[in-house]
Amino acid sequence: MSMLTVTIDGKITTVPAGSTILDAAKKLDVDIPTLCYLNLEDLRINNKGASCRICVVEVEGRRNLAPACATPASDNMVVKTNTLRVLNARKTVLELLLSDHPKDCLVCAKSGECELQNLAEKFGIRESPYDGGEMSHYRKDISTSIIRDMDKCIMCRRCETMCNDVQTCGVLSGVNRGFSAVVAPAFEMNLADTVCTNCGQCVAVCPVGALVEHDHTWEVVDALANPDKVVIVQTAPAVRSA
Ligand code: FES
Repeated sequence: MSMLTVTIDGKITTVPAGSTILDAAKKLDVDIPTLCYLNLEDLRINNKGASCRICVVEVEGRRNLAPACATPASDNMVVKTNTLRVLNARKTVLELLLSDHPKDCLVCAKSGECELQNLAEKFGIRESPYDGGEMSHYRKDISTSIIRDMDKCIMCRRCETMCNDVQTCGVLSGVNRGFSAVVAPAFEMNLADTVCTNCGQCVAVCPVGALVEHDHTWEVVDALANPDKVVIVQTAPAVRSA
């Protein structure tokens, strides 16, 4: 296998042909933020991604910034990951993502583990300078185990990769165009009405609070505290048929 020599932020490494700039950066422990990128190496599945552009870097000899997750490394490539231009571009990407993102971090189930929130904090972003419409027209879709809140979807499409390529369920895919584009079941059906198996893998890879676990803890607590009250606790189809 031919090897390529890559220099990132002054550090030199070699990577196999076919590697991306991000692969080389990982080898050098150079931190490049990612959002849409999802690499499941063991399964040889790589999210086609390259949609969020948070991972952009400068490549010597190129005019435009390049997404590190989707740009193949080449021999003697020289990359810079922390120039003012790069940091400003990443900050703008975050501000644009936040411009139509619900500002309910205080009550969001993903708060503290949200990759968008963490990056905003890292870049010192407290508000977005971009005014405009907000996606606030999607209803919440609540199935047995999953809550979908598409107002929070950033279209990274990690859940789509997981649902289709890994779990082979084929429930989630990109719907709509432009501002209203989200990942959802076809015809925006309820998850409960699809062949979703409630495996939860989409929840596991969602970087924000668009897909979260349906927590039944309080229903159980309520049932224990009020044994006389009739409480219907839903069970997953697989459990129900057992
Ligand atoms: Fe590279 Fe999204 S992580 S484009």
